[in-house]
Amino acid sequence: MALVTSKKMFERAYKNGYAVGAFNVNNMEITQGIVAAIAEEKAPLILQISRGARSYASMSYLKAIIDVAVAENPDIPICMHLDHGDTFDTCKQCVDDGFTSVMIDGSHHPFEENIRLTRQVVEYAHDNGVVVEAELGQLGGIEEDVVGLSHDDVLKHLTDPDQAVRFVEKTGVDSLAVAIGTSHGAYKFKTAPKLAFDVVEKIGKKLPGFPLVMHGSSSVLPEFKELINKYGGKMPDAMGVPEEAISKAAKMGVCKVNIDTDLRMALTAKIRQVFAEKPGEFDPRHYLGPGREAIKQMVKHKLHVLGCAGKAAECM
Ligand code: G3H
Ligand code: 13P
Ligand code: ZN
Repeated sequence: MALVTSKKMFERAYKNGYAVGAFNVNNMEITQGIVAAIAEEKAPLILQISRGARSYASMSYLKAIIDVAVAENPDIPICMHLDHGDTFDTCKQCVDDGFTSVMIDGSHHPFEENIRLTRQVVEYAHDNGVVVEAELGQLGGIEEDVVGLSHDDVLKHLTDPDQAVRFVEKTGVDSLAVAIGTSHGAYKFKTAPKLAFDVVEKIGKKLPGFPLVMHGSSSVLPEFKELINKYGGKMPDAMGVPEEAISKAAKMGVCKVNIDTDLRMALTAKIRQVFAEKPGEFDPRHYLGPGREAIKQMVKHKLHVLGCAGKAAECM
């Protein structure tokens, strides 16, 4: 099966109360770990590529790796998605490069400008059979290419449910990333994690059947945080979204859950462990291999948290 859009995935996910995992890819080992997991668990998959990933690995390498994943897994629907596209031109380039889904992130613009920009991307993408995700409200956390709010400001910029209705109607967008208190990266909360499920519920009532997206959804798994801290790393205050909250959101119309930090931490933890236990190791296969295996096991577990394990066939 060729690459697919996320349209059918979201229809099934919404109806059957699960979410599809959207995993960020930056290199071959990360992609192989994710794809090995979905092949075993028979789950639909969204592989997403950020601007940072495109400038690190180059689009042609990433596309070639994903083409192999698609060819080797004809029974799995795979969507190739641009994560946090910042301009019309970036989104257009990705549509032209064969992406089946793009995100235009105009969340830092004033409301009317976010609508105008999103509408422009939707028109071009839809003319080319590509679906579009947009964002309303603002997330926290700072990543290489995605600038977010500080901890203190996150709760002040949640998505407004009434604005969400106007935004979806005026743009014709296919899914909407909502700000409900999550942040990108490994430091999502200073105190006990809290998400604004009331916002999800209100939007769900006003836009029944419309797929929502949750960014900043890594859990910062204790297993990897402990390994990183044990073997020379320093991430004592790292904190993520509890997995129960992710499972709950998946039953409330959140059809796509974005995970990057958990992949980064799984790979980093295993590499640190190998270097600490075998200081003479210098063969990349001997540290990237265990990292890839850790990613595979972590993703297998996530697919059950999201509820999408075993759902590949119904999304074809
Ligand atoms: O949303 C942010 C993703 O984790 C991508 O981060 O731009 O550093 O690749 P990146
Ligand atoms: P995390 O940093 O929580 O993994 O979020 C990733 C993300 O939202 C990518 O768009
Ligand atoms: Zn994001």
